[in-house]
Formats: sequence, C-alpha cells, structure tokens
Amino acid sequence: MYDYKKTIYDSAVKVLEGLDAADVTAADAFCDYCIPCFKFAKILRKSPAAIAADAAAALKIDGMKVEALNGYLNFTIEREAFVKNAFSQELNAYKPLEGKTVCIDYSSVNIAKPFHIGHLMTTVIGGSLYKIYKACGANAVGINHLGDWGTQFGKLISAYRRWGNEDRLNERGLDELLELYVRFHSEEEKDNALHAEALEWSKKIETGDGYAVGLFDKFKAITLEQAKKVYARLNIEFDSYLGESFYVDKVAAVEQKLNAKNLLKISEGAEVVELADDMPPALIRRSDGASLYIARDLAAAYYRHENYNSDKCLYVVASHQALHFKQLFSVLALAGEPWASDMVHVSYGMVSVEGMSLSTRHGNVLYLNDVLAAAVDKAAGIIAERNPELGNSSRVAESVGVGAVVFDALYDGRLKDKNFSLSDALNFDGETGPYVQYTHARCRSVLGKAGYKPSKIEYDILTDDAAYEVVKLLADFDEVVYSAAVKYEPSIVSRRLVKICQAFNRFYNAVRIMCGGKEENARLALTARVADTLKYGLGLVLLDAPEKM
Ligand code: ARG
Repeated sequence: MYDYKKTIYDSAVKVLEGLDAADVTAADAFCDYCIPCFKFAKILRKSPAAIAADAAAALKIDGMKVEALNGYLNFTIEREAFVKNAFSQELNAYKPLEGKTVCIDYSSVNIAKPFHIGHLMTTVIGGSLYKIYKACGANAVGINHLGDWGTQFGKLISAYRRWGNEDRLNERGLDELLELYVRFHSEEEKDNALHAEALEWSKKIETGDGYAVGLFDKFKAITLEQAKKVYARLNIEFDSYLGESFYVDKVAAVEQKLNAKNLLKISEGAEVVELADDMPPALIRRSDGASLYIARDLAAAYYRHENYNSDKCLYVVASHQALHFKQLFSVLALAGEPWASDMVHVSYGMVSVEGMSLSTRHGNVLYLNDVLAAAVDKAAGIIAERNPELGNSSRVAESVGVGAVVFDALYDGRLKDKNFSLSDALNFDGETGPYVQYTHARCRSVLGKAGYKPSKIEYDILTDDAAYEVVKLLADFDEVVYSAAVKYEPSIVSRRLVKICQAFNRFYNAVRIMCGGKEENARLALTARVADTLKYGLGLVLLDAPEKM
C-alpha cells in the first residue's frame, strides 16, 4: 500500500518547520490529503492563509496537485500517479503485525457432541481471523479448546455399557453417542442408580482407570474424526487441540497464584473469587473438589501466556458466554496480570437456518454437514444449468456450495443474528460467495482467452471512471485486511470483495477489454490484478477460487 502521507510529509517538512507527521490528515471533500496551517501562525508571524499560499508555491510533488485554500494546504493525487502507485505495490506486502503473537481460540467442540450448525460461526469467524492475522504478518496460534472434561462422559460410559456395543459405535459414530446420551437422560429420571453409576465412571476417568480412559479416548477420536472432516471442507486449520482435560492438573498452580493475592474465598464449601458488584463470584472449585469451567480457562490463559508469549488472546465464542469471559478477564486483572487487558471475547449472534426440512434434524439439532451437503447439491444444480460443459464440476460444486454458506456467515457484522437461506446464499447475482467466485473465474477466462502476458502498463489508460473505481478498491486492500484484524471482523474483507466485483463488472460492461494494443494490455493488467486480489481475499474468508465455473 503506497504511503501518501509519508510522501507528503517528507516534502512538506522542508518548507514548514515544526510540521509533525500527524499533521497530514486524510481526505475531505476538497482534497485527498491536507495540512491545516493554523498552528504555524504564531511562530512564523504570518496568517495561516499566507503560510499555506507560500508553502503551496514552494512545494512540488510528483503526481500531486498542491493548492492553498483558507489556511489549508490541499493535496490531490493525480489519477495516473495513483494508478501507477497502486500497481507498484505488491499484494499482501503490508505486514503491520509482524512480530506479534495472537492466540485465537475457536470452534472448541465438545467431545461426543455432533458438529452442528451452532458451531458454524465460531469456526468460520475464528478460522478466517486466523488467516487474516497471518496475512498481516502476525504469528497466529489457532487453538481448539476441546470440551473434553465433565461428568457427561461418565454418563456416556455407563450408557454405552448398558445399551451400546462396539460394532454399533464403530458404524454409527456420533449418532450412536448422541442417542446413548439422550437415552441415559430419560432413564436416569426413572432409575436413581444410574446417577451414582455415572459418577463412578467419571471418577474412574479422572483417576486414570485404563478401561474408562480407553473408552473416553475412543469417544474423543470419533468426535475429532468428524470435526476434522468438516474443518477440511471449510479450509480451517489449528495449531493446537489442547482441551480442557489438559488443564485439570494445572488448576492447583492457578489457585496458588490467586491465594498469594488473597483472592480465594470459601463460600458454602466452594472456592470462589469475589468480583465487582455487577458480576456473580467466579466459582473455581466445587465443594466436592471438582474444578469448574472457568478454573480450566484460567489455567489455559496462563499456559498460553507462558508458552506462546502472546500479545493478544482472542476467544471466538457465542454471546451467551459473555459473563463467563467477563469473569475470566476480571479474575486475571485482580490477580494483577497486566496481560488481562489483552484478552478479547470476540462474540457473535445467533444462527438459524431457513428451508432445511426437519427430516435432516437429529433430535433438535441440524448437523453442519447436512447443511453443507444441501448447499453443494443446490450448487451442482445451478452449475449444471449455467455451464453444462464444465469439467471437474463436482469439485467446483463443493467449493461453491460450501463457500456460499461460509461467505454468508461472514458477510454481516458478527454481532448480528443470522437467518440462513440457502437460496439467498447461492444467488450468483447477489452479494454472495458464488458471485465473487464467478467474477474471479470470469477474470481468469478473459485472461486465458487473451493469452495475457504481463508487460509495461500505460497507466493513463486506467484513469477513466470505470477503471479508476476498480483501482481505488484494489489500492488499499491490504489496509482493509488490517482493519478486519483490528476489529475482529472478517465481514470487512468479504464486503470489500463484493465491492470489487461490482466495480469490475461495471468496468467489464463499460469498456472493451479485448480491443488490441496498449489499451488491451492495460485493461488485462487490471483484470489480472482483480483476479489475484479476489483469489487472495477469498482465501482469507476461507473460500476456494475455482479457475472455471
Ligand atoms: N466448548 C465450549 C462450548 O461449546 C466453548 C469453549 C470456548 N473456549 C473457551 N476457552 N472457553 O460451549
């Protein structure tokens, strides 16, 4: 991204003594950049208007018009220079977060629970932020904080021993586990013995009993196998799968730290940390000695801080856990950890799906895989109609169908509640993933037909309104990516991608690209730049960019 402020500052400081870099400010209606001259009046004993006029007369900056108006120095970038600068910048060369480490906790599935539609948002927002942070030069650490601790696993073992068997488990996987779990709950109401039995199995997992741990590990493997299939479809990566169970024996060290600060109180036999008035106390350990969710999160926070030396720690978790994270961060602040203020709960709204029939629901949950399958099916139908000759069409349908769902999830601000409609998400002419993918493929097809080879560009050819609009949207793309990182908001990227496509399609209709000569060369160069930016940006929001569609 070309640094106009720096160019202006470097020249202007020679004629305006005392100029600070921050005095150069961006765009208003009169110019692209300006410098207010009021602060120099006292030192120079001249009116701001005279100062601006003198400076304007003395300043010459290549590719920029400099004017004085009402005590301001105004700088307007000439289109040709702007286009040239835009093309001189390599895509993704801007690395503002170099040297920073960011832990991102996302997806964080629960063992023995199917991957359902409720996990979509945490998975794609977190997975996209992971790519966005890396693109900005940060060392991103993707963490799947598995829900692999709790009394429910004792229940599952007890249910499995009573009603399950290995063959059925191997065959039906998570469906079997879910069914066993539901059955346990209904039978538990009739039979008191079940509760005690489950508790005993939980204890056995805790104490490392071989048989119990073996079964639990099997449940875990089944869950992860399913989750990893979903991750592969969604282009999601992790660096760590350390779950809650890993932190159980690290809670004692946290208690010591809290104790040293005199923060642990006993309340009705339980160990708590009292917090500010607007929050209930944080429950660290129950009276029966069992640690709680927040205790394991405290241990995880220390572990991440110590092991990754992170500058920031993001938790991409639904808004209904807002109190939990507020408590977590407050305990760390009370414990005097300065890094408590670098922790962020990246929250998001609720998701519902329109137009999926109940037959695909399992009990009350809609599996994400079923939603994806329905989207891919629909995509295949649309592609067969639009482009029956397309080779590799099932691979493309997978990219387009899955991409449609993901792009839709990442298109609105994350705090907004979301109601999915497959037909909206798959509208090739709407503000959708398929629209961006299709525009990318259209660019590639133009480039292929023309046999484009990069050569010297005559930049003035790209100064007409249609081309210039496209160039403007490409020029600050790296900055847009950075602002998505800073605001934890992948929608900033997906929205810009749609804007680029709309501008490119206007350009495509407004001018003839394949017209020969230096015009064709410049327009193809712009087309290539659009294609590369779209492909790069699609990757940041987890979508594939098929070459043909
Ligand atoms: N497994 C939890 C759930 O599904 C989410 C965990 C979020 N991460 C964390 N560090 N607490 O509700």
